[in-house]
Amino acid sequence: MTSLSRLRLTDFRNHAALDLDLTGAPVCLFGSNGAGKTNILEALSLLGPGRGLRTAPLGDLARRDGPGAWTISAILDTAQKIGVGLDVDTRTPKRVIRIDGAPATASDLAERVRIVWLTPAMDGVFRGGASDRRRFFDRQVLAHMPDHGRISAQYERAMRERNALLERPHVDPAWADALEARMAAAGAQIMLNRQRVLDRLQVSVNDRPEGFFPKADLVLEGDVEGRVEAGWDSGAVEDELRVALMAGRGRDRAAGRTLSGPHRADLGVVHRPSGAPAAQASTGQQKALLIGLILANARALVATRAGPSPLILLDEAAAHLDVHRRAALFDELSSLGGQAWLTGTEALLFEAFADRAQLIEVNDSTAA
Ligand SMILES: Nc1ncnc2c1ncn2[C@@H]1O[C@H](COP(=O)(O)OP(=O)(O)O)[C@@H](O)[C@H]1O
Ligand SMILES: [Mg+2]
Repeated sequence: MTSLSRLRLTDFRNHAALDLDLTGAPVCLFGSNGAGKTNILEALSLLGPGRGLRTAPLGDLARRDGPGAWTISAILDTAQKIGVGLDVDTRTPKRVIRIDGAPATASDLAERVRIVWLTPAMDGVFRGGASDRRRFFDRQVLAHMPDHGRISAQYERAMRERNALLERPHVDPAWADALEARMAAAGAQIMLNRQRVLDRLQVSVNDRPEGFFPKADLVLEGDVEGRVEAGWDSGAVEDELRVALMAGRGRDRAAGRTLSGPHRADLGVVHRPSGAPAAQASTGQQKALLIGLILANARALVATRAGPSPLILLDEAAAHLDVHRRAALFDELSSLGGQAWLTGTEALLFEAFADRAQLIEVNDSTAA
């Protein structure tokens, strides 16, 4: 897959029935504030693993005053038809995935579509807390490794059980051993996934042309991360993690939570041209750095060839760029080999794309 040839939404947020015929070129959605442009990108993001670009509960996605159910369906350039929807006829509403009409799983879908995105909500990621950056980076990892979310959930579950166990007056050491073994197994996988994707991303950043989007130097930071050496296999990382958890029992018991492990990791980002941490760069530099990272990750996904080339969703990115940067962005998107989706309030913003893009005006179909 390199692109979608059709996208249909029913009763998804403000779109009662939206049907877009696509040429395969980058798609530029324009329309006034509240028209439903971001809602369309959100729908696309739900074709991938996870809860999409607003991490909204499935029920919130249903159109107000609609039937409660919603569907997102797309035809790929391979002629395959994929769809995600919310079924409300079951006892508890549930997500349904279909491929060519037959029920399918999230992993089936992940083999066909990969997605990266950048939204204005991510603008503060370098200045925010470690958890923001971790979430941002895990999202990049997820595009490469659809299983990353499931493994992270396993880790979190074991950690919650361990935290609860440590609150008891008497802690059964064998039970703690068992929970820490589960945490270490999942945690090592998380750490290795992250490191593998970080390496791919850094290569991709380094390979990008010098130009309008500054390069970044990336490092995973954390107490366990800091001790893992290059070339360690998963067994060695797992052992290190298990030892750290066991050694930290008393401390964690006192703190009421687990203080070491990959759930505490941070992504260190240095703005290469200045050598300064990204958090100290100007707002504009941070935005350009973020765009560069997302483009680099899209390139890394294209380069791995182990899966389809990505959809690249850029919400309101064009408006923040001067005319030269905008042209550079469009040039890069045109040559990237995935389908880009951009939003903006004015068609004029996409002028430098000339005839290389498909411009679509979005209207609020529920507006009276
Ligand atoms: N579940 C929903 N049902 C109907 N309308 C919704 C729902 N969720 C959000 N909206 C509407 O969608 C609009 C925002 O859409 P959005 O895609 O963010 O606009 P924009 O084009 O500015 O990106 C708002 O008017 C909001 O009221
Ligand atoms: Mg928007």
